[in-house]
Amino acid sequence: MKKIIVLGGTGFVGTHVCEKLVREGWQVTVPTRRGTNAKAVKLLPGLTVLELDVHDEAALTRAVAGHDALVNLVAILHGTQAAFEHVHVALPQKMARACLANGVAQVVHVSALGADALQPALTPSRYLRSKSEGEAVLVQAASGAGAGAAAKAGFDLSVLRPSVIFGAEDKFLNVFAKLQKMLPMVPLAGADAKFQPVWVQDVATAVVRCLAGASAQPSPRVIEAFGPEILTLKQLVQIAAQLSGSGGMGRLVIPLPGWAARLQATVMGLAPGEPMMSLDNLDSMKVDNVATGKHPGLDSLGIQAAALRPIAKQYLGR
Ligand SMILES: NC(=O)c1ccc[n+]([C@@H]2O[C@H](COP(=O)([O-])OP(=O)(O)OC[C@H]3O[C@@H](n4cnc5c(N)ncnc54)[C@H](OP(=O)(O)O)[C@@H]3O)[C@@H](O)[C@H]2O)c1
Repeated sequence: MKKIIVLGGTGFVGTHVCEKLVREGWQVTVPTRRGTNAKAVKLLPGLTVLELDVHDEAALTRAVAGHDALVNLVAILHGTQAAFEHVHVALPQKMARACLANGVAQVVHVSALGADALQPALTPSRYLRSKSEGEAVLVQAASGAGAGAAAKAGFDLSVLRPSVIFGAEDKFLNVFAKLQKMLPMVPLAGADAKFQPVWVQDVATAVVRCLAGASAQPSPRVIEAFGPEILTLKQLVQIAAQLSGSGGMGRLVIPLPGWAARLQATVMGLAPGEPMMSLDNLDSMKVDNVATGKHPGLDSLGIQAAALRPIAKQYLGR
């Protein structure tokens, strides 16, 4: 039985990836910062949860040993420059060294639409720049570059770049729906920014298909994961209202002008806990989050991406 280690396997996308991997017969290991975060996956047959600091390179290298493949889904949406570099750049560096040292043959790295490993400096936010730099690290390592003399040569690398992801546990349509039950109107930053939402099950299937060698593209391959429809943020807020039964198009959406959007994002970014929005999120939206056409999409893996409304209706309508 082939063994795989899934970093970030306890998260929104990771849970679906683990379910599919187990179904496909993989023996799965999921490292987590806290065992209690792994409730959704720990009972999956043959899955091992490992309490581990993935940023501790020695511990990570030991954990990776004996695995045939690795999936990385660890990411943060908000943070300082140092935090983004720690999670999106330094971790891929440690991961790459651990894979090279242990002869791991396949790596699937989930990045984000808008990242550009060739030109990180041209991306508009810290999130996207650090995602781009993380991709670049892995692309270089995939060829075996930087491997010690004892290391085996390189690994097969798939980089998946999803647009915003929807699904029953998403923190996107669910949040828009909830907000409209609480607020009399929605003052919205980035209202015209465009997205091409993709279903979480399609992203998880893409990970599994990459591991099964379904792509005709040579390694290192980049695959853009996007759905069939391009929608603005304002349309997405309105769809969340319609499908959750708020009535009509939901609350009045007031698109904020640039200065007010930045003020709102700054204030929200300072809120305690996980902020709903930050200045860096707003910067990410300077570039539409839609397919670039420069890389193959999910169809290259035999996946016909699902439309948002019929699926979102099922969970928002509950
Ligand atoms: N969700 C979206 O709409 C979306 C869109 C585009 C791209 N993506 C990408 O898809 C991937 C998966 O996203 P997701 O929504 O599933 O994320 P998620 O639900 O936030 O899960 C990420 C996982 O990473 C681990 N993690 C988070 N911060 C960490 C840190 N500082 N150090 C170590 N581990 C940490 C957590 O595991 P533990 O708590 O168990 O340690 C968590 O379960 C990410 O690469 C993300 O950038 C997501």
